[in-house]
Amino acid sequence: MKREKTWQKLIAVADLEKGDATPVTFGRRELAVYDTRDGITVSFARCTHGAANLCDGYFDGIHIECPLHQGLFDARTGAAKAAPARVALKMIEARVEDGMVQIFI
Ligand code: FES
Repeated sequence: MKREKTWQKLIAVADLEKGDATPVTFGRRELAVYDTRDGITVSFARCTHGAANLCDGYFDGIHIECPLHQGLFDARTGAAKAAPARVALKMIEARVEDGMVQIFI
């Protein structure tokens, strides 16, 4: 039977790297939590082009640059913005409640 999605606590906002991408392990998933200029967003951390963890890349508050081949993604929407990245990041619905980042998963 498939489990219904619920809001799950991920990490305290106070533990995020301010203005940067923070790696968080959730179960067996490697996630990236972005402190964007427009709020907190969450995606799977692995680049859609290869085996890089995007949290190791450069983040300017909107775009995350892959550390391996410099593919670029919009951390607010997941959209691929520069080659060789062509497939969008899978984003996870997120919110902040009582100082905690929560994900709907
Ligand atoms: S692994 Fe990320 S752009 Fe190639």
